[in-house]
Amino acid sequence: MKVLVVGGGGREHTLVWKISQSPQVKDLYCAPGNGGISKIAHCIDIETTDLEGLARFCKDHKIDLTVVGPELPLTMGIVDLFQGEGLKVFGANRAAAQIEGSKAFAKDLMKQYAIPTAEYRVFESRDEAAAYIRKKGAPIVVKADGLAAGKGVTVAETIQEALEILDRIMVQRVFGEAGERVMIEERLVGEEVSFIAFSDGKRVLPMASSQDHKPIYDDDKGPNTGGMGAYSPAPVVTPEVHRRIMQEIMIPTIKALAAEGYPYQGVLYAGLMIQDGVPKVLEFNCRLGDPETQPILVRMNGDLIPILEACIGGDLGGLEISWDSSAAVCVVMASQGYPGAYEKGGIIQGLEEAERMEGVYIFHAGTTHEAGEYLTNGGRVLGVTGLGKGIKEAMETTYRAASKISWDGVHYRKDIGRKALSWLEE
Ligand code: AMP
Ligand code: GLY
Repeated sequence: MKVLVVGGGGREHTLVWKISQSPQVKDLYCAPGNGGISKIAHCIDIETTDLEGLARFCKDHKIDLTVVGPELPLTMGIVDLFQGEGLKVFGANRAAAQIEGSKAFAKDLMKQYAIPTAEYRVFESRDEAAAYIRKKGAPIVVKADGLAAGKGVTVAETIQEALEILDRIMVQRVFGEAGERVMIEERLVGEEVSFIAFSDGKRVLPMASSQDHKPIYDDDKGPNTGGMGAYSPAPVVTPEVHRRIMQEIMIPTIKALAAEGYPYQGVLYAGLMIQDGVPKVLEFNCRLGDPETQPILVRMNGDLIPILEACIGGDLGGLEISWDSSAAVCVVMASQGYPGAYEKGGIIQGLEEAERMEGVYIFHAGTTHEAGEYLTNGGRVLGVTGLGKGIKEAMETTYRAASKISWDGVHYRKDIGRKALSWLEE
């Protein structure tokens, strides 16, 4: 079969890599792809938001299955468009993707169906939001309602800070339209995990647990990014916590969406806070996590294609996923300046040597391949993922590989995996 993957980041490189191993797949395309993806798939110069262009490409090239990576085409309705044209596509449709596209939609759904989450209020007026912040006091969380590339959330330590952020979102409109509505939320404490699952609209097939690292610097300091590293499995998800997440969050959410008339076929990603074994939802996403996909998919045994097709067909019944018992740690290597402004075009050195190492996978995020060299082309440039018998061994492998790779201004966190170690030592 012919498969198209939509997207061009580390998540999509990992998806393309995994899909390329399926015995069913003959031709693999990626739009727009990146330097690393171009080695294993045909990269097509179509933007992820050019939905008509993507549909035309699929018709012209008789693509059998399209797999959508990022949230934006999903919230724009790529699945609805493709289905309307008789094209097979994997991902949540526009109505279901609101679970990520509108924080207010997600929170209202959780409230209505008693799915555990932080207390919150949504405001369209800056002054009412400010009054609520003053009333509630700090610490308090301020969120832009729409999509803001993972950067629309601030955990404010003081009322002053919360009010400043509120003005940046609602008055200065630093996130554009996403700042028309703001959500003010109770701060949750505990340990964060990403719990990501496939759904066929009725059933939930969970993937291995993982933990993301959003802040730019070690020890979770500095501003939030799209994600600077991840590991899988996350030891905070004990079998009992896993059971609670499925029973109290994942299954009720899929049922709630179906009951509301938005059956959810695709990937549901719950960003959770776990405190003393009790999971609560921070957010939902309508797609795989990036970088969580990297450590998750390198641990997944077997063929991904039948699972994607079963979701689309509404019949995940009987399917299971087996996970490699190894642990995986992914470290994201970023450009100087990220998550602020950064330069592009740096020459990446040492990739081949790192890639030759046993148990090491390198997935590109923002790179191009020109005249035999890989150049930096994004804030998050690439992720190094290493496997090991446990997290400690995986960390050692990953960091040994990362140390071989360099470009001008490269930076990365040195502590991905450390949180898991503290769990294992207890
Ligand atoms: P979100 O995009 O809503 O997941 O928020 C991004 C990040 O902000 C999360 O990964 C958390 O680290 C943090 N965050 C969001 N909401 C809360 C909350 N209610 N309490 C504490 N931290 C939060
Ligand atoms: N790594 C966080 C996300 O994909 O949203």
